[in-house]
Amino acid sequence: MNRPLGFLWGVSTSSYQIEGAAGTDGRKPSIWDTRCRIPGKVANGDTGDVACDHYHRYREDIALMRDLRIGAYRFSFAWPRLLPDGKGAANEAGLVFYDRLIDALLEAGIEPWACLYHWDLPQALEDRGGWISRDSAGWFADYAALVARRYGDRVKHFATVNEPSVFTLFGYAMDWGAPGIVDRAAHLQAIHHVNLAHGAASDVLRALVPGAFIGCIHNRQRIVPESDTPADRAAAAKLHAFWNDAFPEPQLNGVYPAAIAEDIAPYVRPGDMARICRPGDYFGLNHYGPIFAKADPSALWGFAWGSAPTDAPKSDIGWPIYPDMFQDELVDLTQRYRLPVYVTENGCGGRADKGNELDDRHRIEYLKAHIAAMHRAIERGADVRGYFVWSLLDNFEWGSGFGNRFGLVFVDFATGVRTPKASARWYADLIAGKISL
Ligand code: FCB
Repeated sequence: MNRPLGFLWGVSTSSYQIEGAAGTDGRKPSIWDTRCRIPGKVANGDTGDVACDHYHRYREDIALMRDLRIGAYRFSFAWPRLLPDGKGAANEAGLVFYDRLIDALLEAGIEPWACLYHWDLPQALEDRGGWISRDSAGWFADYAALVARRYGDRVKHFATVNEPSVFTLFGYAMDWGAPGIVDRAAHLQAIHHVNLAHGAASDVLRALVPGAFIGCIHNRQRIVPESDTPADRAAAAKLHAFWNDAFPEPQLNGVYPAAIAEDIAPYVRPGDMARICRPGDYFGLNHYGPIFAKADPSALWGFAWGSAPTDAPKSDIGWPIYPDMFQDELVDLTQRYRLPVYVTENGCGGRADKGNELDDRHRIEYLKAHIAAMHRAIERGADVRGYFVWSLLDNFEWGSGFGNRFGLVFVDFATGVRTPKASARWYADLIAGKISL
């Protein structure tokens, strides 16, 4: 493979999904701790209380990353660990945990890529309205300042939020994620306030961290109507506006997409679009595969997840696999936004009960096909500078609990024991230049 010079290979994780230590050293609950306690919301009643116990095993996890010889590690700070009440007094023990993590990464020659928000809002802020409250932008900016002042000497690569379209849609329109509200006004306000939070935090990071490299991480993919009927086409177009455009368009172009502009207008105050529009230094793209959408008049916005064609290739957890659509997405992105692109998540879900998770050729095939597609996109002019596998470890996969596994490294959740899968060795060989695609 003809790899561009300086291309960055990494792996991604997030705080709530791996850290555990939910009540340790002063951390207080997040909205996901709360959701995990509501019967029926998470498969098997799983919680992130212990997860991969990364809080205690981070040195082992860094050693695993060193063995892969990755250049960068993308993780997120747990807001409720640093500011247990969301705002006000910082928690020194929580701050020290990330000091140690960051120092150990740097010692291992791994660049820390830190995300401020990967869905674990402090419950104390949810109790004040969470993202529905316009104050959330200010809370987030204060939290960003704490992070910038403490870690800005060592961390230069930042993302403000992870997949804002996903956590707002799942959390405020579908009840697939925390806080599990289903309400149009709440959804629209959350979108707008998260956008304001992105703008405010970008300014804080820019002002406080010399040489900061700042972006936002978006989940973007083709939304394909399940059938070629006008109803399914309209449903797909509406989902496309919420999923793909509701955040990049205001953040990068200063406008809401036409399909939702009228809905959101009542919440937009004079000057807001200028506050939000912070294109930053890169576009973080999370991509797994297309979504098939269908009309559903009973759903909040009239759309629902449809089914992929029966003959579509699918992963062991049922997600459709179309690497060519990834290729097109990368090319489109470069043309549309003219920012360097980092693929901040891509990966393949499996299930231990299929018996193929240690010798995970299915995952190797997925990664191979997507990295090859990325390479074709680069040849077509896409400005892709790096690629991060989701994920280093099997972890707490939100509503699917521990059943859906995305790791390069297998985790026995009863003991915490880590075992690199075949895909980990394959990825290490790819990074070392021993594999050509
Ligand atoms: C993404 C999330 C990440 C993980 C993967 C599988 O949407 O950012 O936390 O759950 O999906």
